[in-house]
Amino acid sequence: MVALNPSELHSSLADPVLGSIGFLNEVMSRYPDAISFAPGAPHTSFTDDLDTTRYTDAFLNHLVRDKGYSPVRARRLLFEYGPSRGLINHLVSDALRRDQGIAAAPAAVVITVGAQEAMLLALRALFRYGPQDVLAVANPCFVGITGAASFLDIPLVSIEETDDGINLAALEAACLAASSSGRRVRACYVAADFSNPGGGRMSLECRHKLLALADSRDFLILEDNAYGFTAADGKALPCLKALDAGRRVIHIGTFAKVCFPGARVGYVVADQSVGADGADERLLADELAALKSVVTVNTSPLSQAVIGGMLLKHGSLSGLSGPKSEFYQRNLTLLLAAMDRHLADGLPPGVRWNRPAGGFFVRVKLPVRADLDLLETSAAQYGVLWTPMSQFYLDGAGDFQLRLSCSYLDPEAIEEGMRRLAAFLKKETWS
Ligand SMILES: Cc1ncc(COP(=O)(O)O)c(C=O)c1O
Repeated sequence: MVALNPSELHSSLADPVLGSIGFLNEVMSRYPDAISFAPGAPHTSFTDDLDTTRYTDAFLNHLVRDKGYSPVRARRLLFEYGPSRGLINHLVSDALRRDQGIAAAPAAVVITVGAQEAMLLALRALFRYGPQDVLAVANPCFVGITGAASFLDIPLVSIEETDDGINLAALEAACLAASSSGRRVRACYVAADFSNPGGGRMSLECRHKLLALADSRDFLILEDNAYGFTAADGKALPCLKALDAGRRVIHIGTFAKVCFPGARVGYVVADQSVGADGADERLLADELAALKSVVTVNTSPLSQAVIGGMLLKHGSLSGLSGPKSEFYQRNLTLLLAAMDRHLADGLPPGVRWNRPAGGFFVRVKLPVRADLDLLETSAAQYGVLWTPMSQFYLDGAGDFQLRLSCSYLDPEAIEEGMRRLAAFLKKETWS
């Protein structure tokens, strides 16, 4: 029987992130009674009585009523191969315009298999073969984008995430350093609204300055808006794409959190012209759709029909996400309040945490290494799980941090989980 040599397989397979995700899942399965602050997954209560037939019917009715399809033709659409760019582009385009002030025609939208595929397609299209094009990422960073870059052999440069968003001086310095070595920062990935794992939000001023820097240093911005909907009522900031006069921003979104992750439906807005001086009317979205046709061919029409129906029934993205936003705001408030209560005293010096205004995550700094051994102790002896932050950093800076997620738990579990976490931190994290 042939035995493959790991060193002859693609280098992305050696990425420690893949190992630690597997380990985390394995620990969770070994300690089923542990309370887990690890998963960044949406709460299951939102899908317990989700009626997919009702939403599919709403979408089919829309095709017949508003788009002139015969009922037979509309129904067939659900079961056949479909256009690579998607079936619900017009609904997504409309929702983005109304809810987020993003003026993107349906032709500038591609419906993808989650945000993850959107990242993969955007990176593949923008980055040429070879080490000359570099992707800048905020550090710490979502492993979906760093993993996709590693999958595609794209070199990364990490830029410190600050309380304000991203260190713009460091980003500019990275652009200059790249160009002095014959390379260029081709794009910068940011999650301006409540990043995963950092939880931070980019200030409005930083958003404007980042767009100006992208113009002056000639790079594109990959904006991941997975958690924008969790902003408190009336407190949302305009996303980068809504401020993007120069079409520097490729905007990536997902229905995983506002609808359900099993649909695997996301989208990318790519309204950049491709062609000399923008004279050619071909858009980057056309190129992404072409690439998609050799990756996943098309996003499941059945899934798109359910998501399309949900958009139609709820009237808008904010109609869809409003109750969820309230739920996650409440959970985050409960988590932070439980931390304040349970961690008020008895902690080793150096335990500190941030106070995000939205999103799913809180980051805790420890005086000891938050590694897989410590996680094992936490699970086995205290019945509580969390995510080590080291996998989100490119430079080892996260070795002494852990991430807590508030999205997947009920209020009682948050309270009990924090009681357990407090016992663990007070006993096991003295250096
Ligand atoms: C920052 C970020 N982007 C995107 C996603 C969702 O991606 P997908 O739509 O592929 O599930 C997640 C989910 O965990 C995320 O944390």
